[in-house]
Amino acid sequence: MGIVTTNAGLEMLLRWGHLLGGITWIGLLYYFNLVQSEYFKEAEASAKSDALQKLVPRALWWFRWGAVVTLLTGLGMFAVSGGRIASMDIYLGALLGILMFTNVWLIIWPNQKVVIASAKQVALGGAALPNAADALAAAGLASRTNTLFSIPMLFFMAASSHYPHLTFKPLPFIIAVAIILLLQYNGAYLALKRFELVKKLPAGGKMKFYASIGGVIHCGLALAVVLFLLLDLL
Ligand code: HEM
Repeated sequence: MGIVTTNAGLEMLLRWGHLLGGITWIGLLYYFNLVQSEYFKEAEASAKSDALQKLVPRALWWFRWGAVVTLLTGLGMFAVSGGRIASMDIYLGALLGILMFTNVWLIIWPNQKVVIASAKQVALGGAALPNAADALAAAGLASRTNTLFSIPMLFFMAASSHYPHLTFKPLPFIIAVAIILLLQYNGAYLALKRFELVKKLPAGGKMKFYASIGGVIHCGLALAVVLFLLLDLL
């Protein structure tokens, strides 16, 4: 019985890929949020333009494909585990991870493409694309929301095997999911604004508390504590 012929072995290989994909994805997410966005605030226009054309596209390639590897290996672990991976913790962790994945592919990447195209046009002597500023704001808010989510997400990923809540309790679970979905709605708001539907929905798109680096770290820790206490105490 070898590692590729048993479910436990396959699950371990998937877990290994999951961790490699996860550090690639979330490592770059942290680079964007903790390093690059602060650097861009004070960079020379020419340096920023060069980075947008040559550095950011490379970083975004590893970022979005790292997200794909992480998602597929995560779902793969569910598939081969034969139902063993089932706790309130992993459901919340996976929900956060899947929302983060959709934010990467449906909001951050499409909007960053506009920002990069605009920088290229300006570098060639043209005008900035008219929707570049809106695209940057929509991508930035979703990226900040992913940074916020990553903190409780990682806690729940690890809690699934090492500190699980195995008894399903609907009330705390529903409250936890509602909190996450409200934050996700806020994080997707600027991107959703393009669609008619959002005009009839309550306003969102606020980054107030997590606009700064300190803010997003504190809010992420607070969110993790609140979600954990919900599962642990209610
Ligand atoms: C994108 C959606 C994601 C899904 C569906 C998912 C799913 C899973 C599953 C099923 C497990 C196994 C849990 C267990 O054995 O009890 C797991 C573990 C884990 N995941 Fe994820 N995951 C996702 C995203 C992420 C991300 C973005 C990271 C960031 C690094 C991550 C890090 C981890 C870690 C550290 C573990 C714990 C491994 C262990 O203790 O055995 N996951 N995930």
